Amino acid sequence: MCGIVAAVSHRDIVPVLVQGLQRLEYRGYDSCGVAVQAAHAGGHGFSLQRTRSTARVAELMEQVKTEHVDGLTGIAHTRWATHGEPAVRNAHPHFSHGQGVSPVADAEVPARVALVHNGIIENYEALRAELQAKGYVFASQTDTEVIAHLVDSLYDGDLFAAVQAATARLHGAFAIAVMHKDEPHRVVGARAGSPLILGVGQSGSEHFLASDAMALAGVTDQIVYLEEGDLVDLQPGRYWIVGKGGAQLGAEQRPVKTVMAHSGAAELGPYRHYMQKEIFEQPRAIGDTLEGVQSIVPELFDGVTSEGKTGAAAWRVFKEIDRILILACGTSYYSGCTAKYWIEGLAGIPCSVEVASEYRYRTSVPDPKTLVVTISQSGETADTLAALRHAQNLGMKHTLTICNVATSAMVRECELAYITRAGVEIGVASTKAFTTQLAGLFLLTLALAQSKGRLSEEKEQQYLAAMRHLPVALQSVLALEPQIISWAEDFAKKENALFLGRGIHYPIALEGALKLKEISYIHAEAYPAGELKHGPLALVDSAMPVVTVAPNDELLEKLKSNMQEVRARGGVLYILADANTNIESSEGMHVIRMPENYGALSPILHVAPLQLLAYHTAVARGTDVDKPRNLAKSVTVE
Ligand code: M6R
Repeated sequence: MCGIVAAVSHRDIVPVLVQGLQRLEYRGYDSCGVAVQAAHAGGHGFSLQRTRSTARVAELMEQVKTEHVDGLTGIAHTRWATHGEPAVRNAHPHFSHGQGVSPVADAEVPARVALVHNGIIENYEALRAELQAKGYVFASQTDTEVIAHLVDSLYDGDLFAAVQAATARLHGAFAIAVMHKDEPHRVVGARAGSPLILGVGQSGSEHFLASDAMALAGVTDQIVYLEEGDLVDLQPGRYWIVGKGGAQLGAEQRPVKTVMAHSGAAELGPYRHYMQKEIFEQPRAIGDTLEGVQSIVPELFDGVTSEGKTGAAAWRVFKEIDRILILACGTSYYSGCTAKYWIEGLAGIPCSVEVASEYRYRTSVPDPKTLVVTISQSGETADTLAALRHAQNLGMKHTLTICNVATSAMVRECELAYITRAGVEIGVASTKAFTTQLAGLFLLTLALAQSKGRLSEEKEQQYLAAMRHLPVALQSVLALEPQIISWAEDFAKKENALFLGRGIHYPIALEGALKLKEISYIHAEAYPAGELKHGPLALVDSAMPVVTVAPNDELLEKLKSNMQEVRARGGVLYILADANTNIESSEGMHVIRMPENYGALSPILHVAPLQLLAYHTAVARGTDVDKPRNLAKSVTVE
């Protein structure tokens, strides 16, 4: 998704801005650009200068050198197209040259406003018509350009006042950073619905805006998290923040926090891609997630960042609720689907799981005794945040998030929080975030079971011992990589694949299919194996590979019958089978033996080979594994 970096400084800030964009590349983008207040020769004033590209940020870096783009104040952006194709004219920063000026016909007229934007402006068509009627000429197809012209139309010598008036007219989600040619040492930012942070420079004389703290790694670790409706004014040596109500906010309301967003996470080490690195980091990530967990205590879910959360909060909430509603998107949704089996099976609490983008718009029947659980790697997914707020508006006040980013909006807005310790995940395809979510959700299940009197001390210790062994068990699963690579060679030649699972491994089949489609672009679908004969069996012939997740559980014999149905139609099976399943390789049946049977926690192990299968298939097909086409890491727009 789009990324913003902006700065007011005393030094040439362009290298910092472009490096910041590089650190935001993991979010996904299709064009990029930078604009500065360029000083005229001989100290005779400033003018806005920009350069934009549809190539990678590394090429933008070369472009700024050849075009001599430098300045003390600047804004930069990576764009993920929503309104208008990926093209230079749609790339940010956008300019307004003022009323009656055509940027093409009047090329010598200097730009007045430069602006970068993350989000979607829903009323842009009405605003565009209004501004066109006033004589503004549009150079792009974007919703963003209306904001630049709107700021210009409202400008009367004070950029802050103009941005304040302009944002009051916007509907939708935005984070913006704006410059005006007449105020060369000032950047004004605003946030509503899209993330934006303020970085306080180490020397105190330079300040930054960015989409996340990662963009400023190595530049400053002093971060202020802006909140909904905040406006921020950056000038050399000072900044101030004005809240929704128009009052200036001090350090108490918007404290400066030290955030360790080290750029080390961005180093690949011996791996070829971030996705591969992150798959192999899973044993460490699970180990970190469980570190210090000696027993199941509700305090685990009180969160780490939000003030005012006491140890008693989660315990009281768990006692009070009698149903669970999980809201999430994509991979996080599948971790929720897996958790439903645990929550109903072990804790005995009714649990429903909904895709956030559907739940937020449908008429549902709210129950105040529900614990609403959001699951999100980024904690900034627009649909999940909107679904959470929708549930809160319906009167469901008990909320908990399982989230990988402690400083995210999701953690701030939920009553309770469990922070997974996956570390920064850069590959667009989520891997270690998924398995650490599952670990957190299993702990949640045990805490819920305990609060309902359904967890004996003996069982608790057995489950915890199994969880502590997970990192080692995962290592042995990852050692299956050479066998998976040989499967991937077959898959790379296919255009379709089916994934089958039963019970708690059905969501794992869904996740395996999602991984394969998003990075290899092979059409993949997952079904509960018992559903095959109700339709999808018609797709099966000798060209169809069918991946089957076959743990040694109570549904094994049923699953074997389903596999026979596939073989009888010529389908070729690729089976991940536990020991003692008596499933052996034979013609049309390729078996990889899982090192051990893992009972309730088996989904956490079975997903790893599916991640590797997707990864190696994509590598064999030569796709851009870490930045698959059309996708973004953090989906901060609807
Ligand atoms: O940050 P979130 O976990 O809220 O993101 C949700 C989905 O966008 C995300 O899981 C997406 O499906 C991934 N690309 C899957 O690999």
